[in-house]
Amino acid sequence: MSDDIIPVSPEWAKRAYVDEAKYKEMYEASVKDPVKFWGEHGKRIDWIKPYSPEAVRDVDYTGNVRIRWFHDGALNVSANCIDRHLAKRADQVAIIWEGDDPSKSKNITYRELHAEVSRMANVLKELGAKKGDRITIYLPMIPEAAYAMLACARIGAIHSVVFGGFSPDSLANRILDCDSEIVVTADEGLRGGKPVPLKANCDEALKKCPKVKKVLVVQHTAGKVGWDGARDVWWHDAKAKVAADCKPEPMGAEDPLFILYTSGSTGKPKGVLHTSGGYLVFASMTHQYVFDYHDGDIYWCTADVGWVTGHSYILYGPLANGATTLMFEGVPNYPNSSRFWDVIDKHQVNIFYTAPTAIRALMREGEAPVKKASRKSLRLLGSVGEPINPEAWLWYYRVVGDSRCPIVDTWWQTETGGILITPLPGATKLKPGSATQPFFGVTPVMVDADGKELEGACTGNLCLINSWPGQMRTVYGDHQRFIDTYFRTYPGKYFTGDGARRDEDGYYWITGRVDDVINVSGHRIGTAEVESALVAHAKVAEAAVVGFPHDIKGQGIYAYVTLNAGEPYSEALRKELVAWVRKEIGPIASPDIVQWAPGLPKTRSGKIMRRILRKIAENDFSNLGDTSTLADPGVVDDLVKNRSH
Ligand code: PRX
Repeated sequence: MSDDIIPVSPEWAKRAYVDEAKYKEMYEASVKDPVKFWGEHGKRIDWIKPYSPEAVRDVDYTGNVRIRWFHDGALNVSANCIDRHLAKRADQVAIIWEGDDPSKSKNITYRELHAEVSRMANVLKELGAKKGDRITIYLPMIPEAAYAMLACARIGAIHSVVFGGFSPDSLANRILDCDSEIVVTADEGLRGGKPVPLKANCDEALKKCPKVKKVLVVQHTAGKVGWDGARDVWWHDAKAKVAADCKPEPMGAEDPLFILYTSGSTGKPKGVLHTSGGYLVFASMTHQYVFDYHDGDIYWCTADVGWVTGHSYILYGPLANGATTLMFEGVPNYPNSSRFWDVIDKHQVNIFYTAPTAIRALMREGEAPVKKASRKSLRLLGSVGEPINPEAWLWYYRVVGDSRCPIVDTWWQTETGGILITPLPGATKLKPGSATQPFFGVTPVMVDADGKELEGACTGNLCLINSWPGQMRTVYGDHQRFIDTYFRTYPGKYFTGDGARRDEDGYYWITGRVDDVINVSGHRIGTAEVESALVAHAKVAEAAVVGFPHDIKGQGIYAYVTLNAGEPYSEALRKELVAWVRKEIGPIASPDIVQWAPGLPKTRSGKIMRRILRKIAENDFSNLGDTSTLADPGVVDDLVKNRSH
């Protein structure tokens, strides 16, 4: 924790859309009469058919759980992100693309975006895509990823973007879960100068997905790829044969826009479903107010479009606002650790949004790589994905922002669609490490383990009581799982899965997940997923996975593994298991530590006591709690004795 308080500067209070008084006024209006508030702000986007006042909000967090916003309105999301800007800003740059290779970059104007998205939409239609179909997108961070997402939105298809770092198996599971018959991929991606074999991964995945009829392939590196003539289609061939104009399909506000898979505490990843109208209203409004986006600003969010941050804050929010958004293919330390700051100078970036893990990694390199770049264009900094420790916050503030750029530490989730707890740069005094205050319409409540609401300064579990338009609507294909995951623990409330502290000023400090989800470098991994990958290995009898504090990644993955009887423990096998998980799920899920566990601490009913495993992983042996209920208390001593380092 830190005692620093950074006040709002007078320039910011003046230039921003919202100062402190205005925030209070708007916030109060938003919670007092949400229907009136959102009824007004819903008009920020273009509607083909306006919603009626009665349809602004239809929400019930009890029973079967129903969440609808603007439900009798009709719109098209891609028309909102492109067509409606053409009259005023056809020649303005919509997307600045910066390649992994620093000599490669490209500007795409709104006019060009319109043509490319229309072509992609027409190609998808030729491949058989229709309104309501699911299309899986497995692409690197290239403009075609944006074209593909917007093309789906244009024709009313539902996209499911799968992060390019996921393995063939993870890709296959996501394709199967939502029944996609079309996949869009590229020959290869590039990260830090190294190719990522996307088409080869896709070919491997599709062995398990017989229903996939067509694969649209973008040529990016011109690397060699396998080819199935009946199934695979080159984007550059197909686009030459279609018109550069495609009429946007009118969509109901509650028609699905996308599915995005995310890890939970149990089972396989769930398909978080977002719909069209409310999502776009919320993504665009938060983008405008939180980043204080004004016409002409250059805005850069370093996320990947494979995550929700890329959906809402590289693509949909910024483009709905007619912004210039930068899309970066590379990594922060290639070709060297000045890359972020060089890109900021090169494209004169004003607003920069990244993750704490990147800040911590760059902080380790010292100030020199930052100071080499001018960074004079920067005005505002943002953080997302995991708690930012005050030390990293202050380094970001002092070194990167030269103590003149406010930092917006934005708390939200795949499920929330957009930012929920955050400072507004002209309104909120900052406390390093705190996500500060709720956005308009958002009502956080703190509860204890029994669900009792806590007042004032407190520590507890974070829930939300009122819906906001960007909220997820269901788990794709499994509404019961939606109810059970989010609305059952604390009936009548949405449970975030996060723990938090609220201080005496009403500021929120998110402390991290309280469920079995690990946040590795801002990426969510379910312990259950890693465990099931481990036990799928022929030599593994049992596995238990927990998180542990990691200097750079925030949390690392700690796996306790029991081998089959008689199987010898060896260093080679340990390495093999790490490689195995990498292959099964993807590099982001590789365990940092594998500890051999001849036995796991279990209750007499057979439940693994993760609390104890977490403590051992954290090297905190003083407080293992009551172990007397264990079937065999001796296993704990063994694990402590053999704790890996
Ligand atoms: O634990 C919180 C953490 O990331 C989780 C959501 O992960 P995901 O759905 O992958 O979305 C990440 C990008 C929005 C949350 O439950 N988290 C996200 N932002 C913050 C955060 N924790 C603390 N501070 C944040 N600013």
